[in-house]
Amino acid sequence: MSAGEPGGVVSAGEPGRVVSGGAVGRAFPRLEGPEKVTGAARYAVEYPVDGVTYGWAVPSAVVRGRITRVDTTEALASPGVLAVLHHGNAPRLAPGPERELWLLQEPVVHYRGQYVAVVVATSLEAAREGARLVRIDYDAGPHSTVLADDHPGLYKPDHVNPSYPTDTAEGDFDAGYAAAPVRVDATYRTPAYHNNPMEPHATTAQWRDGRLLVHDSTQGASPVRATLAELFEVPPESIRVVAEHVGGGFGSKGYAKASVVLTALAARHVDRPVKLALTRQQLFGPIGYRTPTIQRVRLAADTDGRLTAICHDAISQTSTIREFAEQTAVYTRSMYAAPHRRTTHRLVRLDVPTPFWMRAPGECPGAYALESAMDELAGAVGIDPVELRVRNDTAVDPDQARPFTSRNLVACLREGARRFGWTDRDPTPRARRDGRWLLGTGVAGSSYPARARPSTATATARPDGSFLVRINATDIGTGARTAIWQVAADALGVPPEQVEIHIGDSALPTAPLAGGSMGTASWSWAVIRACQALREKQRDNPGGEVTAEADTTDEVGGQPALPRYAYGAQFAEVRVDADTGEVRVNRQLGVFAAGRVVNPTTARSQLIGGMTMGLSMALHEEGLLDERYGDWVNHDLATYHIAGCADVESIEAYWLDERDDELNPAGVKGIGEIGIVGAAAAIANAVHHATGVRIRELPIRLDKLIGSSELA
Ligand code: MOS
Repeated sequence: MSAGEPGGVVSAGEPGRVVSGGAVGRAFPRLEGPEKVTGAARYAVEYPVDGVTYGWAVPSAVVRGRITRVDTTEALASPGVLAVLHHGNAPRLAPGPERELWLLQEPVVHYRGQYVAVVVATSLEAAREGARLVRIDYDAGPHSTVLADDHPGLYKPDHVNPSYPTDTAEGDFDAGYAAAPVRVDATYRTPAYHNNPMEPHATTAQWRDGRLLVHDSTQGASPVRATLAELFEVPPESIRVVAEHVGGGFGSKGYAKASVVLTALAARHVDRPVKLALTRQQLFGPIGYRTPTIQRVRLAADTDGRLTAICHDAISQTSTIREFAEQTAVYTRSMYAAPHRRTTHRLVRLDVPTPFWMRAPGECPGAYALESAMDELAGAVGIDPVELRVRNDTAVDPDQARPFTSRNLVACLREGARRFGWTDRDPTPRARRDGRWLLGTGVAGSSYPARARPSTATATARPDGSFLVRINATDIGTGARTAIWQVAADALGVPPEQVEIHIGDSALPTAPLAGGSMGTASWSWAVIRACQALREKQRDNPGGEVTAEADTTDEVGGQPALPRYAYGAQFAEVRVDADTGEVRVNRQLGVFAAGRVVNPTTARSQLIGGMTMGLSMALHEEGLLDERYGDWVNHDLATYHIAGCADVESIEAYWLDERDDELNPAGVKGIGEIGIVGAAAAIANAVHHATGVRIRELPIRLDKLIGSSELA
């Protein structure tokens, strides 16, 4: 896929201090690679289970209303069908805080596609046929499913995710904006985006003597166990959740989802093990999606391009059963400084499935808007867009009013510009042409918070000289297992081959989910502390088997609240067919500053994976909701377009050798999400440079370009 050289370390100021012989920083292949490529690695519904049965979820056929009748006669008469669960007969769940997961408990439909029944049968085919034969009557009410900036239901939530203030204000934006010589006022729109991990949400559930064993496709077995314990009113110790291999998540498997609840309900009801996997089409909806956004950005600057006023007003949606307030404008609070600043978030409760996390929820759409507006400002003020960002860099977080622990945005921009060949760029739009193709280049900044959560871990020294590290981390395909294995080896001071690592099981020491780009930071923290404690203990007992444990709750909780962020610079070159408006991306290049990179191979995969999703967002992806139908009309991979390999012609990711002692013992910032942040803006900015046409509503499709008078 890459026409460029592989990702590598470049020095940011201080010469690299790579520990030679250390495992951290070395490009180990994934530990489970051979298992995966030979098919031996087991995913959630691939475990052999005696007497297993199969579940098939039945979605509601109306958007909003009540179920008036469920007729299971035909379904139950169908060969192989064992049971049909619905609100009238399903085992009871405790009404927990997650109304979304309170499934099959009431005859109420909150959105189209809500699971209203599950058919259990002796084969997958029989379950599917049974599901077709379940007859459900509804009393349907009116609904509202499409986000609009004049929707009468717009309101101000109490806070935005995870716990940020809804609005912020510094100085006097209106006065600062009115007084400025250069102004940009632009509204950007992004559609709904759907997570499509290779492995769908899938579960095998088995009850035995009041105990529940679950194999689930999740980003965190510990949180899933906690949710199931609450819903089924079972002590957490009676539940075991295994997630040894997970085929992607992107946020959609961040917490317990409908599939695991339905499967556990079904298994309890039929008193047999049940496997249930959502279909590809079912992934468009109840599992969550990235909310559509409407974002107005206003920027004001002096004639040197120094920002004087910044305002970002974001509108997004939530459902009627749960408030999900995406932190869309939070990116803007810390990215660039100005004396007058304001950010706001407004929501609408629609009759839709609740939006959820999708790779860099908030930062991704927010950066698309802000980094596009910065490009518009660069044009308005007549300053190179790299230079404009350099000029507005700030060592102090404008939001927290404290210095960033490290901020190498400028170094990323400079290194990116050098590698990309930006310096002799003619800023004039439509200045380069190669036959029918108009050529253009674009840049965007990128940033993502570097957080960590408390975790526990154990480390054991065995008499044969080997070590065992246990932690309920989750590897959703990122290489996390390998990264923390490398960290453990260095913490123990032994070659990694001497270390065995066990993850992906709630029976292991409790750990946070793989999310928020904080997995490696959180897990490695506990692993390092456990390994250090083990070395201490071994002094007293050098020969025998010794185990030490660590819990970083106090240490993580006691960390000073400093602005910790990873940064990046995204560059793109596009060509646009002047006659048809077809857009192709010639190359993408990103340079990131994300603390210490534990494993260059898996890090590069994360970064180019995020950048590819950004390309997909810029040009392809769009959930199209039909208000009459109340659901997405394109709900499969034939009609919901995603970038394929042929769309990625050249992609390169680099990182700076960044050392930051204010982070965590491993010195990592997290790299799962920053690759997507700013990527779509860089492409949109390049399309504008190529054509002179500014499309402010993603995706940038050829019909929007050729519909514009400027392209003609
Ligand atoms: Mo990620 S969207 O924090 O799983």
